[in-house]
Amino acid sequence: MINVAVLGYGTVGSGVVEVIETNKDVIDKRAGQELHVKYILDLRDFPGDPYEDRIVHDYNIILNDPEVSIICETMGGNEPAFTFSMQALKAGKSVCTSNKELVANHGAELIRTARENECNYLFEASVGGGIPIIRPLNVALTAERIELINGILNGTTNYILTKMAEEGSDFDYCLKEAQDKGYAERNPEADVEGYDACRKIAILSSLMTGKTVRYEDIYTEGITKITKEDFLYAKKMNKFIKLLAKSRELDGEYYAMVAPFMIGEKNPLHSVNDVFNAIFIRGNTLGDSMYYGRGAGKLPTASAVVSDVIDCAKHGRKHIICIWEEEKLSLKSVEDASR
Ligand code: HSE
Repeated sequence: MINVAVLGYGTVGSGVVEVIETNKDVIDKRAGQELHVKYILDLRDFPGDPYEDRIVHDYNIILNDPEVSIICETMGGNEPAFTFSMQALKAGKSVCTSNKELVANHGAELIRTARENECNYLFEASVGGGIPIIRPLNVALTAERIELINGILNGTTNYILTKMAEEGSDFDYCLKEAQDKGYAERNPEADVEGYDACRKIAILSSLMTGKTVRYEDIYTEGITKITKEDFLYAKKMNKFIKLLAKSRELDGEYYAMVAPFMIGEKNPLHSVNDVFNAIFIRGNTLGDSMYYGRGAGKLPTASAVVSDVIDCAKHGRKHIICIWEEEKLSLKSVEDASR
């Protein structure tokens, strides 16, 4: 049996517990042993919850329990998630996370710490929700020089843009719907101003280049300035408005940006609607490939976290190599990224 602790019993954390329970038979088989949720850390109590007896309020209980070898960090934000993750890794406990903010800020350092302590820091759920994209970049695409990543990486804004285009609904109404469905961030500014997509493309760009691409260096524009008229023009030209996150390598230089684009029917991202995300990747010998699925939401995101837990269980204390160095990469200006 392998004991797991979940940090944060919110949307994703409760999803992790639900996925482990719902798919117990296949998960235990694939992990090679039974996955047992021993603790759930949260500030709140959950009277009547079936996992009420696992709730703890003191992180030290988890940290000091040698039986716990895998931690799911689904708290979000930088602190205390960073401190908790570092402490876990230094204690040789693997960490699996959905926390894109933390991965974008400290990914390289956390991966190095995991390597030094013979454990793992895995973050499949940090980009694209339930879409497998981190693992492909780390495993299946490692023979490639990645020339281009072009993605719809934020479910909330894609949901809003889809509803505005299809139904002519207004921005605030669509945002509220996305919030009610659990897609949006606690502070929806991160979604609608493009910051969330920016962090995600920073993570993918870092994996693409093997160095740290700072999200602060990425030109970012959200969707708040898009008007009803823009949709009318787009429709007349048979175009679709999408918030795209791009990263490309051209003659040894790197470019990245997040901005709304008008795209035509020939662009494979044009039919990616609602909460769905998609990531288009061009490799120099592979050519084009695309990854598509639910980019936000409780169970899809939780499923990605649990897939990392299974990977940790399978590998024990063997570090799964991920090339993402702490050295910063300089990006060129954005004009060329949009070409
Ligand atoms: N707020 C994010 C989104 C959640 O809408 O895509 C998933 O990262």
